[in-house]
Amino acid sequence: MVELELVEGVLLVQVSNPPVNALSQVERQGLLDAMAAAQADDVVAVVIAGAIAGGGRNFIAGADVREFGQPPLPPHLPQVIDAIEACPKPVVAAIQGAALGGGLEVALGCHYRVAAKSAKLGLPEVTLGVVPGAGGTQRLPRLIDPAEAARIIAGGKPVSADKATQLGLVDQVIEGDPLPAALDFARGLAGRDVQDRRLSCRAARGGIDDQAAWDKLAAEIKRAARGAKAPLVALELAELAQVTPFAEGVAKEREQFLALRGSEEAAALRHIFFAEKAAAKLPEDCATAQVRPISHVGVIGAGTMGTGIAISVADGGYRVTLVEVSPEALQRGLGNVAKSYADSVAKGRLAPTVAQERQARITGSTDYTALADCDLIIEAAFEDMGVKREILGKLQNVAKAGAILATNTSYLDLDEIACASGRPQDVVGLHYFSPANIMKLLEVVRGAQTSPTVLASAMQFARSTGKVAVVAGVCHGFIGNRMLRAYNREAGLLLLEGASPEQIDGALTRFGMAMGPFAVADLSGIDIGYKARAVMPEGSFEPLAFAIHDALVERGDLGRKSGAGFYLYEAGSRATVVNPALQSLLDVARAKAGVTARAIDDAEIVERTMLALANEGGFILSEGIAAREGDIDTAYVHGYGFPRHRGGPMFYARQCGLASVRDRIEAMAIGRFGRWWPVAPIFAQA
Ligand code: 3HC
Repeated sequence: MVELELVEGVLLVQVSNPPVNALSQVERQGLLDAMAAAQADDVVAVVIAGAIAGGGRNFIAGADVREFGQPPLPPHLPQVIDAIEACPKPVVAAIQGAALGGGLEVALGCHYRVAAKSAKLGLPEVTLGVVPGAGGTQRLPRLIDPAEAARIIAGGKPVSADKATQLGLVDQVIEGDPLPAALDFARGLAGRDVQDRRLSCRAARGGIDDQAAWDKLAAEIKRAARGAKAPLVALELAELAQVTPFAEGVAKEREQFLALRGSEEAAALRHIFFAEKAAAKLPEDCATAQVRPISHVGVIGAGTMGTGIAISVADGGYRVTLVEVSPEALQRGLGNVAKSYADSVAKGRLAPTVAQERQARITGSTDYTALADCDLIIEAAFEDMGVKREILGKLQNVAKAGAILATNTSYLDLDEIACASGRPQDVVGLHYFSPANIMKLLEVVRGAQTSPTVLASAMQFARSTGKVAVVAGVCHGFIGNRMLRAYNREAGLLLLEGASPEQIDGALTRFGMAMGPFAVADLSGIDIGYKARAVMPEGSFEPLAFAIHDALVERGDLGRKSGAGFYLYEAGSRATVVNPALQSLLDVARAKAGVTARAIDDAEIVERTMLALANEGGFILSEGIAAREGDIDTAYVHGYGFPRHRGGPMFYARQCGLASVRDRIEAMAIGRFGRWWPVAPIFAQA
């Protein structure tokens, strides 16, 4: 709703729609009515639009995304914003918290903008598969530098209040309580003519100032879009604002907004937006569990994973004790921590003082007793059951009562590890993804005996270090890696059947995957899977799918680290030339398997790999390893480079139609490798 309050000639118009002040039909109507009231009342000299009183945390977080699946209801936002802008009395947007999407568009319709220092302003519509639909693409380039505007419109990232002031988007930044300062600011405007503050009345600039810079920006936006459409349309609209009159530009913008709103891309992005929020919620039986306080975190193992975890935890503000067995290994680990922070400073990602402060939170020890007062201890040692059980056994005597014991296993049975600790209720899996200080996903693995308190604490800890946490149950590979096995199997079989690595990688990157499966194998090292398969029971994987992987490892081509894998890597280059040795390896493998190479098209590559993911995801759901389809999609988007604008593998399957997925899987189940295609219940029952 919208509440009005008159304070000495200033009409306070407060949007109030908890939790984030999204604009639904009620608020749009309320704002429209408020503008009429402001004009009709002679006592009103100035209007303040905001959510500054009543403890509102956000200005306006944008249109109510839940309305997007339904026909738009009047009054439409452009009409509301036109009415704000047309008000003959000065209208000031008093911004705190988020002024995003339609929220920033409302602020752009106001004649002045003041913002609390902590506010963030942006047009994130492209992250929801649409473009700003209420004048944002046409007003913003008429207010600030058009290239900066285009970056905000097509890039979707919000800016801080300070940056917004620097850009000329905000007239004044307010320190502390925004209400008194906004009132002072507004009173100074009484009687002011606002014609020159109406952005829709400003002429277009008549062309792009610096074409080369614009082209560079366009290339950047296109690269980041990874095949998504909305950012490119947004960029075109930002360009249009420079050459066409407002009315024409805004009509085009609305047309594009409405067209994109019903697109599959927008549906996928809305799905993942809400899936992420749902994944962050605790399982019902943990919802009221008391969270244990955490301030000191121990990390055991200073290898790549352990140091990445230590950095991620220190970045989250925690004190970290990193433990290694030998002084040499510890020094190497601490050296890598220092190097990582130095690199961040050199690349301009961190201010030197911030880097120093964070690095200082990490200290090292070769003595387990240094972990005695840790609230959480994360074991990040070798992926070996014996090693992990030994560590958990040692912790039994070292960790204080109530400490949470976490294991960073990718595949192993958490319950077996937990037993070794003598306090399995305190044990949880924290499956980080490498590099642990960069990758967003954290699988929080709930063992048979993990207590609700420990799970709730682990989820809160994950969030506090900026991770996207997804709860997983215990099985080999949990959610993500278990599905990855099926995906890699199909990629390997497609190779054996006749597709080339570039074709498979190309088809999947054109689909939107950050990298193709063979480029990923080269990056992480083909020998890792080779060693893992060596100890896997016969019949648990398809050896023919990995015949080429194995042959490459056996000739010493381990991937990037050895200069050759599926592709060749010249020193310092990322160029992808297929390894010439591959052809003869393929000839041998095909002859041995009795497979004749055939032409395979991109559609088959995408379908088989995606359905392999979704079908395995279906079993993961039916076994209760993941609680929701959205949890699986969230894990894939944040941990495996799955294109966000495709919504995740389960969303992909839903879009295909569950029954049609079942039919396709049944067709594959009668093929040469049909035994790998049992139909998951979610599809079988469709
Ligand atoms: N519409 C509907 N619900 C929304 C919403 C929106 N725009 N933004 C957030 N919510 C809901 C969330 O789903 C969540 O619901 P839940 O509690 O039932 O799970 C609740 O509000 C709280 O959200 P968060 O957990 O994200 O709260 P935070 O405090 O962490 O973050 C925020 C607040 C920064 C505002 C963040 O929610 C956000 O970024 N929201 C999306 C903003 C956005 O994309 N706006 C553009 C919308 S499109 C548009 O405006 C079109 C226009 O051009 C016409």
